[in-house]
Amino acid sequence: MDLKISGKSAIVCASSKGLGRACALALAKEGVNVWINARNGKTLDTAAREISGAGSGEVHTIVADVTSEAGRDAILTACPDPDIVVNNAGGPPPGDFRDWGQREWFDAVNGNMYSAIDMIRRSLDGMVERGFGRIVNITSVAVKLPQAELGLSNGARAGLTGFISGIAREPAKSNVT
Ligand SMILES: NC(=O)c1ccc[n+]([C@@H]2O[C@H](COP(=O)([O-])OP(=O)(O)OC[C@H]3O[C@@H](n4cnc5c(N)ncnc54)[C@H](OP(=O)(O)O)[C@@H]3O)[C@@H](O)[C@H]2O)c1
Repeated sequence: MDLKISGKSAIVCASSKGLGRACALALAKEGVNVWINARNGKTLDTAAREISGAGSGEVHTIVADVTSEAGRDAILTACPDPDIVVNNAGGPPPGDFRDWGQREWFDAVNGNMYSAIDMIRRSLDGMVERGFGRIVNITSVAVKLPQAELGLSNGARAGLTGFISGIAREPAKSNVT
């Protein structure tokens, strides 16, 4: 299938393994130039080699923690004008809500809600100016089917979904979805 996105630039967050890596691979196979990142540089380099070998898009790596301000700075310095942003990060641990205090909640909200919001805040207006943009947020089925032990995930990811729903209509008029 030709998605007509060959030559576009994509940031795929948290992408040396799993869902992020699969997104980067699919984009590279479409001829999209991808910027992949993870905290472990060795695993990231391995993923980059494999993705490079399988697709026609360029593959760039950024060793960065996407849940930190400095990590997002590094990612957006390497690719300042992305056409596509795939937001992703590791998920919070399961457990009993009685055991979770402010630290656990702040970490979950930072990792699985705020980090994606900040990537969007810093890339959306450029997409609107250029008349094209796609933002994909990898979250969880927990948003629709919450489970008790996944409380941190249910809360943070539902918050992201709610936020996105609120801002999505306006940029869609400029072909940014
Ligand atoms: N797989 C599923 O069935 C499923 C279901 C529901 C929800 N999810 C959610 O979807 C997301 C991805 O899941 P997955 O199964 O694809 O995970 P995975 O296979 O464990 O891969 C996680 C990837 O993210 C990177 N990463 C993790 N934290 C990062 C950070 N702070 N900054 C930069 N990179 C980071 C990891 O590399 P480094 O460790 O080297 O940084 C790795 O490349 C998670 O939030 C998960 O909870 C997954």
